[in-house]
Amino acid sequence: CGIVGYIGKQEATPILVEGLKKLEYRGYDSAGIALYNEGNTDIFKIVGKLDNLKGLTDKEEPKGSIGIGHTRWATHGKPSTPNSHPHTSANGKFTVVHNGIIENYMKLKEELKGKGYEFKSETDTEVIPNLIQENYDGDLEEAVRKTIARLEGAYALVILSSEEPDKLITVREDSPLIIGLGEEEYFIGSDIPAILKHTDEVYILDDGEMAVITRAGVELSTVTGDQVDKDVFKVDWDPGMAEKSGFDHFMLKEIHEQPETLRRCTAGRLTETDIELANFNLTAQDINSYNKIYIVACGTAYNSGLVGKYAIEKLAKIPVEIDVASEFRYRDPLVDESTLVIVVSQSGETADTLAALREAQDKGAKVVAICNVVGSTIAREADDVIYLQAGPEIAVASTKAYIGMLMSFYMLAIYFARAKKTLSDIDSKRLIDGLKALPNQVQDIINNSEEDIKELSKGYADHEHAFFIGRSIDYAVAVEGQLKLKEVSYLHSEAYPAGELKHGTLALIEEGIPVIALATQKSVIDKTLSNIKEVKARGGVVTGIIIEGEEEIEDLDYRIEIPKADELLTAILSVVPTQLLAYYVAVERGCDVDQPRNLAKSVTVE
Ligand code: G6P
Repeated sequence: CGIVGYIGKQEATPILVEGLKKLEYRGYDSAGIALYNEGNTDIFKIVGKLDNLKGLTDKEEPKGSIGIGHTRWATHGKPSTPNSHPHTSANGKFTVVHNGIIENYMKLKEELKGKGYEFKSETDTEVIPNLIQENYDGDLEEAVRKTIARLEGAYALVILSSEEPDKLITVREDSPLIIGLGEEEYFIGSDIPAILKHTDEVYILDDGEMAVITRAGVELSTVTGDQVDKDVFKVDWDPGMAEKSGFDHFMLKEIHEQPETLRRCTAGRLTETDIELANFNLTAQDINSYNKIYIVACGTAYNSGLVGKYAIEKLAKIPVEIDVASEFRYRDPLVDESTLVIVVSQSGETADTLAALREAQDKGAKVVAICNVVGSTIAREADDVIYLQAGPEIAVASTKAYIGMLMSFYMLAIYFARAKKTLSDIDSKRLIDGLKALPNQVQDIINNSEEDIKELSKGYADHEHAFFIGRSIDYAVAVEGQLKLKEVSYLHSEAYPAGELKHGTLALIEEGIPVIALATQKSVIDKTLSNIKEVKARGGVVTGIIIEGEEEIEDLDYRIEIPKADELLTAILSVVPTQLLAYYVAVERGCDVDQPRNLAKSVTVE
């Protein structure tokens, strides 16, 4: 979910609605705002996307210069107007927006019902305003502290009360929250894009902290009442980076930004034969002491780790295990001081990944984060961070962050290999030259193949199933390719190691089934070609993603060529056609590309 707040002198409605629009990638099942105006709190909420709320507020024109807002990704209770936020206490005087999950809400709800409170929604959130009402005795701050002490789970809250109308109170526990600082006005958001238009100076709340915000300033304290002093954090994103700049969708814009993403990601980090990572604490001695690396992440970030595993094992000769974060945490992983854990997260706020990071640190491991959002929780808690430097990624389906993650893994693998002396100067230079060539090569792929892929996507649009196959790194990219297609076009797709197809999945290949074969790995190309033949023999229609000039690859119905590159580095190239294919198939099928149903970009619940 995304939350916003405003207190100042301007009309709050447009600021809140616009802020929510910027956070829509965090959820879009329903949305709402609450404003304090002339003694009352007025609430406007509605099921569906933010445009519905915009329609409602354009009609009703809510007034007030203090307010809160929310865009929801449903956890407890279906998407509906009553379940949407803000939620209000029984007496209507305490209003709350919440991101996270209150784990003990059933117990609290029963207790409050016993005291005569009536509930209007099925959400866990509604216990919060009611508990505040129950605890209120003339001091809102005190009532909030008493309420917080009863809550178990994760929450970022913003509270507005008609009892004390000239303030907003916000609290954070395991859910992100920032406060943007203006001139006698303050902006609250769960994420930077929400406030970027107004200010680049923010406070980032830490877990267990709260802020009482009035037009006169921000008072920070811990939930237990100790004063907190905090540095102002300066955001270095340009507001234009969060706009569509002429593209139909953010996803397409972000695919096109990838050459630039790669340049930003490598800026200042590549020398002739080495990788330089500023502020990196891991020493060569540390790196030599690890007998295992764990890569832990979710979704697309996890998929980048599949490539990371290849690169690190191949170059640095350290065994790498990879796990999805929600599994890692609960299976008592074999991690100790001799293990290095790498967590990967675009947002730096994914609850599952954050929990895995903490689990790893509890077990004594050092954690390196590969992360995009500076100042995010994961970035702050990790022992070392490699920032993607990709700028804001807005489309729910990740593209440029994925490519930045791959680049980060390549750099890290070389860095480790140099520390372990498993990579010679000559080989290191060759690989680094390869990395330097990638931005232009990605540009060439976009220039040369976008139109063809757009055409090709028309043939995919009517299918219900597709398969991606590949060997070694091609398989890792196939996994990301199938996820992207599934996420944005709702076409069911699966990735298989090309050699594994015959052990089961071949049964699903029949006349006309589309198969995308990634065949960029020279060392296994003959084997992959045999697998393509197996598919063709069953009637599959094969699109090959191949290295330019590979004339001997016959049997393909369609060919998409990528430039020549070192076998290890092709992932950054071969993924680009799969992203474009997913995008154009989704457009062809009339899908909501930037906001696929049921998904959210940043999932801050476990
Ligand atoms: C969500 C998104 C995915 C993303 C995953 C991990 O589920 O829908 O696209 O890959 O979270 O996000 P992160 O911010 O940790 O990279």
